[in-house]
Amino acid sequence: MSRPAAPAPSFADLFGRPPETAADAPGRVNLIGEHTDYNEGFVLPMAIDRAVWIGLRAREGGAVVAASLDFGEEKSFTLDGLGHEDDGWWEYLKGVAWALGQAHHRLGGWEGVVAGDVPIGAGLSSSAALEMAAARAFAAVSGLAWDPVAMAKLARRAENEWVGVGCGIMDPLIIGAGREGHATLIDCRSLEMRPAPLPPGTVVAVLDTSTRRELTGSAYNERRAQCEEAARGLGVRALRDVTPADLEARGSALREVVRRRARHIVTENARTLAAADAMKGHDASRLGRLMNESHLSMRDDFEISTPALDAMVECARSAAGCYGARMTGGGFGGCVVALVEAAAAPAFLDAVARLYRDRTRLEPALHLCRPEAGVSLVPVAAE
Ligand code: GLA
Repeated sequence: MSRPAAPAPSFADLFGRPPETAADAPGRVNLIGEHTDYNEGFVLPMAIDRAVWIGLRAREGGAVVAASLDFGEEKSFTLDGLGHEDDGWWEYLKGVAWALGQAHHRLGGWEGVVAGDVPIGAGLSSSAALEMAAARAFAAVSGLAWDPVAMAKLARRAENEWVGVGCGIMDPLIIGAGREGHATLIDCRSLEMRPAPLPPGTVVAVLDTSTRRELTGSAYNERRAQCEEAARGLGVRALRDVTPADLEARGSALREVVRRRARHIVTENARTLAAADAMKGHDASRLGRLMNESHLSMRDDFEISTPALDAMVECARSAAGCYGARMTGGGFGGCVVALVEAAAAPAFLDAVARLYRDRTRLEPALHLCRPEAGVSLVPVAAE
């Protein structure tokens, strides 16, 4: 996949002059470490070569005027007196403005065109990409220093408190701090990040089931509440502080469903650290096995998979060249991520498409993804 240029022509049509710059925020795919971020554990995502862009120009007066090419809508809001209207794409822009204001940043207004090619609701983090693109836009017009970690925390705050999803730090952090050619092991407690190269001769395939989830639905927040219940029951600050052996020994104090949720988190943390180790040792087979185990844990213990995701995982695993496959992201629809032998990748994609179509009657969207750098300001295409 390659990123198209920033949407300069549409900008000039709408605002009568070209944009000054564009904020480019990649989507992400998580290789392993699911729902571990808000448990202060470990994740192993990479930013990908799909992005949300905002072509923009600073604007006098404290207002933001933004048009979304994907939604075919134009919206405006003023920066003083921000209020909720509903739950459209512009609420993410407002949420970021609100969070920046809460951190005492003085913001300038802008006019912008929002576009992108991160599929929405597919588990590739289109909403965090929009938030981080908006943060980059506000920073650019307001003369704020760009600190990816600080901005990722503010984007999470926007999502938690303005949008109302109790998500963790993984998505905005990898979108802010991703490194080209690498996945990143993130310790979601200390926010320490360690680059992890893909095993030589492998590529990452993102296999979209064409089914979608609604993240603001209650299931995500319910999983989070169950993890918090488990931590309280075990007398720890977060499930990060529990090992699989601890849980084995003390888990009987928990409700059965809560014990299974906790088992996913504690084993997933261990798998994620082992996966980073496998990557360090260039061991594609071990990484693939850990991805396969992660899927089973999400399917059976955390219960965030679906028949379409399970079918895609099975199709991927039965195709030649696959080291391992698992659902990725929040769950309940969206994408599977697979680690594939590079030389076999074209035939792998053909085989998976055929198998998945035959099995589900759904049309999948299958891509190879490159690990990309995080958010940037890019020159806009000339008109
Ligand atoms: C969503 C959230 C993340 C993370 C994943 C699951 O993408 O935004 O914070 O919890 O789900 O790993």
